[in-house]
Amino acid sequence: PSPTLQAYRASVLHFHADPAFSDQAFDWFEDGLLLVDGGKVVAAGDFAKLAPALPGGLAVLDYRGKLIMPGFIDTHLHFPQTDMIASPAPGLLPWLETYTFPTERRFGDPAHARGVAEFFLDELLRCGTTTAMVYCTVHRESVDAFFEASAARNLRMVAGKVLMDRNCPGFLRDTAEGGVRDSEELINKWHKRGRALYAITPRFAPTSSPAQLQLAGELARAHPDTFIQTHVSESDAECAWVKDLFPGARSYLDVYDGFGLMRPRAVFGHCIWLDGPDFARMAETGSAAAVCPTSNLFLGSGLFDFDRADAAGVPLSLATDVGAGTSFSMLQTMNEAYKVARLKGSYLPAVRMFYLATLGAARSMQLEGTIGNFAPGAEADFIVLDPQATPLLARRAQRCAKLEELLFALALLGDDRAVLATYSAGVKVHQRR
Ligand code: GUN
Ligand code: ZN
Repeated sequence: PSPTLQAYRASVLHFHADPAFSDQAFDWFEDGLLLVDGGKVVAAGDFAKLAPALPGGLAVLDYRGKLIMPGFIDTHLHFPQTDMIASPAPGLLPWLETYTFPTERRFGDPAHARGVAEFFLDELLRCGTTTAMVYCTVHRESVDAFFEASAARNLRMVAGKVLMDRNCPGFLRDTAEGGVRDSEELINKWHKRGRALYAITPRFAPTSSPAQLQLAGELARAHPDTFIQTHVSESDAECAWVKDLFPGARSYLDVYDGFGLMRPRAVFGHCIWLDGPDFARMAETGSAAAVCPTSNLFLGSGLFDFDRADAAGVPLSLATDVGAGTSFSMLQTMNEAYKVARLKGSYLPAVRMFYLATLGAARSMQLEGTIGNFAPGAEADFIVLDPQATPLLARRAQRCAKLEELLFALALLGDDRAVLATYSAGVKVHQRR
C-alpha cells in the first residue's frame, strides 16, 4: 500500500457530462469516499464498496454530512481589479475610464502586484475556486507576480499579460510588436511551468490595433496549446464602438475570427449580443463562452441567452469577472446566473450550474482529464461544502428531499461561508474558521 494514500469520507458529487444533454451526467455517492494519492485522484465511489479494499490502519478523514466536489473553475476574472470591486459607474466604458485604468496603473510595481495577487488567490481559495482564467495588466511584472504567487500555492492557473496599444491612457499602452514580444517571452517563461498555463490576452477589440490583433493571432498559431482570452459583445455602447472601429467586419466576434483568434482554448467573456452566425461560429471553432452574470447585472450590460447558446452547442462555463463582477464566489455567480436565465425565458437547474462551474469549464478549456471531475488520474483539486454553514442554510438543507434541492439551496444561499475546506493537488489550502 502507498504511504501517501489519503481517504476522505463525505457525500461525493462529480460530473461526466452536461446534464442539459445527458440524463447520466453525474455520479452522486451519498455516503461516498474520495481516494487521493500523490496529488491525483485514485477513485471516487461508495464508501461501502471502496472501504473494504483500503489498507489496514489507513486514517479516513471524516467529512460525513458535508459534500465533496471538484474545485470550482472561474473562466474569466481580473486579479488587478480586486481593490476596485464594487466601484459605481453607469456602464462598462465609464467604469473602465474612471476606475479600472487608474487602478491597473500600479501593477508595473512588482511589490504591489505581488501583494494583490496573494490576496486575490487566497480569496479564490476561500470561495472554493481552484482554477481560474485570469487577466493581469499590460505590465509583464503583473504576470510574473501572479504566477509566482500561484506557484507558491501549487495552483492550476491560467493567466496572461493584457495586450492594448490604443484607446487607453498612455500609461497603460504597449505597442503591437512590443506587447506580442512580451507575451511570447512570458509564454516561454511560464506556460506549462509547474501548474501554470498561459493565455494570450488582447483586452478587447477597441484597445488593440488591427496590427496587434494580427500579431496576437500569429502568436496563437505558433503556440497552439496556449489559451486565448478576451471580451466580446458585452455592452451596447461597446458594440457600437467596435462597429465604428472595424467597419469591414460582419460582427464584433468576426473581428477576432478575422485575425485567427477563434480556436479551441479561446475563451470569450460575456457573449451577450452575439447573433445566430456568431453562436454557430463559436461552436464550429471550439471557442468557449464565459458567462459573467454578476458583472452583466452590475454594469447593466445585458442578459446572456442560454437557450440560443445551447441550440448552437457552444461550450459554456460560468465566471465572476471580478472586479466588474461583484463576488468572488461561484455559488453567488450561480445565484445570479439562475436569475439571468429566468429573465431570458431559460431555465438552469442547479445540477447544470455545478456542472458549468466544474467539468463544463474544464471542457471549455480542453482540460478534461486534468481538472473538473474525479476521473482516476485527474488532479486532486476539490472542495468540501457545508450545508450547515449558516443557520438559514442549515434550516433549508434539512428540508431538502432531493439532490437538486440541496444544490439549489447551496447555490442560492451559499457563498464563501459554505466552503469548509479547499484542497489543491491533495493538499489543504484553505480551512474555514
Ligand atoms: N472590456 C474590456 N476590459 C474590460 C474589463 O476589464 N472588464 C469588463 N467587464 N469588460 C471589459
Ligand atoms: Zn472581464
